[in-house]
Amino acid sequence: MRKPIIAANWKMFKTRDEALFFVLKVSEDMPDNELVDTVIFPQAPMLRCLITRQGEELKIGAQNLYYEDEGAYTGEISGPLLKSYNVDYVLIGHSERRQHFSETDEDVNKKIKAAIRNDLLPIVCVGENLSDREKGNTNKLLEKQVKKAFKDISAIDMKNIVIAYEPIWAIGTGKTATAKQADEACGFIRDIIKNLYGDVVAGDIRIQYGGSVKPENIDELIAQENIDGALIGGASLDPEKFIKMANAPLKLINKNI
Ligand code: PGA
Repeated sequence: MRKPIIAANWKMFKTRDEALFFVLKVSEDMPDNELVDTVIFPQAPMLRCLITRQGEELKIGAQNLYYEDEGAYTGEISGPLLKSYNVDYVLIGHSERRQHFSETDEDVNKKIKAAIRNDLLPIVCVGENLSDREKGNTNKLLEKQVKKAFKDISAIDMKNIVIAYEPIWAIGTGKTATAKQADEACGFIRDIIKNLYGDVVAGDIRIQYGGSVKPENIDELIAQENIDGALIGGASLDPEKFIKMANAPLKLINKNI
């Protein structure tokens, strides 16, 4: 069994005090990170105050990074800076960044390379919009996004990469993909990775589902063969809900023992 990874994408929510309150509240109740990885992605200025206060189990990630390591790029955040704060993970290619900040597949590829170069663990987001799905173009779109994202990335570097399948029509809409739809798409992504890198990498790579995940639906989603965790937006802002979702994989692990 691949190690499940449960991540909270806070987007542009929470002030410093709210973030600190949350982390202090949840840190004691996180599962052992030998069994489950748990990560919080706050807004960048809060990284510094959360790191070191997050307890033993919880990891902290950045929602974005720029693909150059330094230079005249006002407002951007560099990989070396994130690393100097001991940030562990970085989200790359979230659909909101593609949509509102015009990030392209080529940018995503360069950002993955920057993350690898700076020893940060990328969670790479892919997913179709409603019209792609309705036209039957989901697989075509996923194949294009995955191939372009991982262009020139070696099999060794793929070991540290997590993919998040996030259908845009399910993000923040309350409309979750059914467990079957989510599993099929994650399975299809695994097949693309298999064609590119072979059985071992495809068998090891972790693929999360994201899009209106909440305590009521997480169990069914993560029980699917190809789904190795969840990337959660709205429902991750509530500490009690996050504690429940972070511990959800333990039920599966106990069942498999
Ligand atoms: P949601 O967001 O859980 O609020 O749908 C998921 C995401 O954008 O990562």
